Amino acid sequence: MTVIYREEDGDLSVLDGKRVAVIGYGHLGRPFALNLRDSGVQVTVGIRDDEHGEKPSADGFAAAAIEDAVTDAQVIMMMLPDEVMPQVYLERVSPHLERGDTLVFGSGYNVAFGFIEAPPFVDVGLIAPRTLGAAVRERFERGEGFNSFVAVGADNSGRAWQTVLALAKAVGSLRAGAVEVSIEQEAELDLFVQQALMPVFHHMMITAANLLMKSGYPPEAALSDLYISGEFTDYLQRASQSGLLNALELTSPTSRYGAMSRMERFNDLKLERLMEVTLDEIRRGNFAREWAKEYSDGYPRLRKMQDALEKLDLWAFEQDTLEMLGRGGGDEE
Ligand SMILES: NC(=O)c1ccc[n+]([C@@H]2O[C@H](COP(=O)([O-])OP(=O)(O)OC[C@H]3O[C@@H](n4cnc5c(N)ncnc54)[C@H](OP(=O)(O)O)[C@@H]3O)[C@@H](O)[C@H]2O)c1
Repeated sequence: MTVIYREEDGDLSVLDGKRVAVIGYGHLGRPFALNLRDSGVQVTVGIRDDEHGEKPSADGFAAAAIEDAVTDAQVIMMMLPDEVMPQVYLERVSPHLERGDTLVFGSGYNVAFGFIEAPPFVDVGLIAPRTLGAAVRERFERGEGFNSFVAVGADNSGRAWQTVLALAKAVGSLRAGAVEVSIEQEAELDLFVQQALMPVFHHMMITAANLLMKSGYPPEAALSDLYISGEFTDYLQRASQSGLLNALELTSPTSRYGAMSRMERFNDLKLERLMEVTLDEIRRGNFAREWAKEYSDGYPRLRKMQDALEKLDLWAFEQDTLEMLGRGGGDEE
């Protein structure tokens, strides 16, 4: 039976007298660092060089070189992009680890696929949010918390779970519930959602938008109906609170009949077979090897695909629609 940890399972006093080094101050490093500090934990942010210390300093953190942050801390949270992490770990983190330290990851990727092997004298833990970094901070501030996967990959001290659960509580995850998995399961599930669901979602939206516009519907109406209105968001929000079937029950009989009667048409897509192939590539480590090569080559394919996607006419219509509705497009912090 899977264990789900809640607020009462974490004891913040486990972190008393300990310093946490958050290495990397990006999408997840920043919210984790801020939430830890708001929970009373002593935090140092490890940055690559002095020029990159502006953001943590503006938030009131003492920013230190990665080596110094690791040396001074007992808990080291690795919050760097997954493909970049192995080299930084090898050169700047592992030489400074000490007996009894705890190494914590935000994704199981590098441990699961063998890119990082921690020394036998440290504990290894995982706190992997099942949401965007931006939501990790927003939900903490609203007192809501967020779901995460938690794991212990190595428990040399016999206290690894205490540390992981104290940290999970301090970042705000136990308020919503942290699910115990293995590091490998987290890494594989994460990649599966990214590679089996996200492509279908994006493909579906782009194909539908182009078809509707080609068929004479105004772009603003088509895009609003597809995703800009937020109806889909509300639907998924309901599904996450009360289940997929209950969300479906909230739609009209016309909508339900239409959805269920047309669902079978999509069987021809052989979606399950495509997903099986994707899962198999992930579990065999083929994707991880492909991505490591892409990184070492300087991301040529990533750049090419990004350029091609950005060239679609659709985005100009999307930005116009967002502007007409008085919303700002662009990146979120
Ligand atoms: N993003 C999410 O919502 C999310 C959700 C769940 C889990 N995770 C996991 O969290 C971890 C961090 O992901 P992220 O999305 O937060 O990454 P990110 O935003 O891309 O992280 C960027 C940070 O890494 C630093 N960095 C990049 N290259 C570096 C290098 N060569 N040497 C030293 N520092 C370097 C950047 O520093 P500069 O400012 O100097 O560029 C920046 O502080 C990953 O394991 C990811 O899988 C992320």
